[in-house]
Amino acid sequence: MPDTSTEAGFETASRKADLIAGSPRILIIDDESGIRESLETMLTLEGFTITLATDGVSGMEQLARNEYDLLLLDLALPGESGMDLLPRIVEMYPTLPVIMITAFGTMGNVVDAIRLGAENFVQKPWDNEKLLADIRTAIARHRAEEEVVQLKRTLKQRYNFENIVGKSDPMLKLFDLVAQVAPSRSTILIQGESGTGKELVAKAIHANSPRRDKPFVPVNTGAVPSELLESTLFGHVKGAFTSAVSAKKGLFEVANTGTLFLDEIGTMTMDMQAKILRVLQDRRFMHLGGTQEIQVDVRIIAATNVNLQDAVRAGRFREDLFYRLNVITLELPPLRSRREDIPLLAAHFLKFFGNENGMEERTLSPEAMRIMMDYEWPGNVRELENAIERGVVLSTGKIIPPDLLPSQLNGNTYSSAMLEQQPDASLFDLMEEIERRIIADRLERCHWNQTEAAEYFRIPLSTLNQKIKRLNVEIKKRNRD
Ligand SMILES: Nc1ncnc2c1ncn2[C@@H]1O[C@H](COP(=O)(O)OP(=O)(O)OP(=O)(O)O)[C@@H](O)[C@H]1O
Ligand SMILES: [Mg+2]
Repeated sequence: MPDTSTEAGFETASRKADLIAGSPRILIIDDESGIRESLETMLTLEGFTITLATDGVSGMEQLARNEYDLLLLDLALPGESGMDLLPRIVEMYPTLPVIMITAFGTMGNVVDAIRLGAENFVQKPWDNEKLLADIRTAIARHRAEEEVVQLKRTLKQRYNFENIVGKSDPMLKLFDLVAQVAPSRSTILIQGESGTGKELVAKAIHANSPRRDKPFVPVNTGAVPSELLESTLFGHVKGAFTSAVSAKKGLFEVANTGTLFLDEIGTMTMDMQAKILRVLQDRRFMHLGGTQEIQVDVRIIAATNVNLQDAVRAGRFREDLFYRLNVITLELPPLRSRREDIPLLAAHFLKFFGNENGMEERTLSPEAMRIMMDYEWPGNVRELENAIERGVVLSTGKIIPPDLLPSQLNGNTYSSAMLEQQPDASLFDLMEEIERRIIADRLERCHWNQTEAAEYFRIPLSTLNQKIKRLNVEIKKRNRD
């Protein structure tokens, strides 16, 4: 494995440049000069880089020589036709999107072409707007796919990160930091909302450390009841408590020479916090009921989705433990603050779940992609992963339409759907309707706890109350929590 520590100083901007390609390149293979010229003029004006070929032979030569983002291929070329070329092109360049150019009345051939792997077709005389939309959709999909492959290769070579995807600035900075801190034995604290990838990053740190062949032991300190947690972490001697019929090793020992991942550390009891602090200070502890001190060499990575500084201020977390853990802190940004990662993550999970279910790889329809880009993702990457898995499993065709996305995603696009439903509504009515839906959505997400919703909107509870009454927001349950 390469020594990652020497590569940590890479500049984010220059690396980003080699992860993302430049202006889209289109190859047009058509024998009619009029068609070639009008396509070239129109597409050049739209910012594409165009290369022209008049027949199959020169077209194949171009494909071999340069990288293209899309091919416009005439179905009825003289000599070797577009239909003859297509299977070869699909085999040699499986990810290249191909749009067939067809004349009126050749629908039968078009169906065959799509079956053979063409992306779509354009019929002469074409509608520029529709053609442009098709081209952009195909290129965006192709780019995201290529980018994922490319990025994974880079991340694997550079950092040995196999499954972590991201190209946003905060993620690239995080990758650098992970590579930089992984080789040491320093304690690391990973903070981030639920589903942002804390465990994945903890594993990457371990995999990039000299301890990589030693155990990585995760323990969910928030989920294990406190009495049990103590014996889970420190082990016990036989007879230490009623049910301790035999001696048992604790996870600190299991993780010896490796990494112990203390997950959900923010919800640990004060009593446990004191005990953990002691081990962190001198890496020594005793089995429950034991008398002998045990020394271990364990690297600690802790994770939390509550802000520990706030917890310290609120008196729920020991300040001294916080400082012990907070040697190096990695912040995992919520997905909504790095939306450029959404298409990339979507492509990554589409590939993963396609493979896992033994299916042909699915694509999101442009509308489904747009909805995903606009959504808030309160459950972050995990929620996105689940949405894609659901879409892949439920889709019957190659394309995942918006209605196969989970309902909370579809419920979030207020305005355009409303305009269609109520074309005569005044702006005032529409605004009220939007307000009503936003409030109802938020209340549902807060389990109908109005205090929490008011805090979220940063308005007094009384104001929220008035709005709920005036707008007739339907209240399902109140203050369940
Ligand atoms: N950058 C990423 N690239 C690829 N997959 C990711 C990324 N971030 C998260 N995931 C995936 O999302 C899911 C959630 O990640 P993980 O369990 O690491 O989150 P977490 O922050 O520990 O969440 P929680 O607080 O709920 O425990 C996992 O399946 C993980 O593989
Ligand atoms: Mg986790």
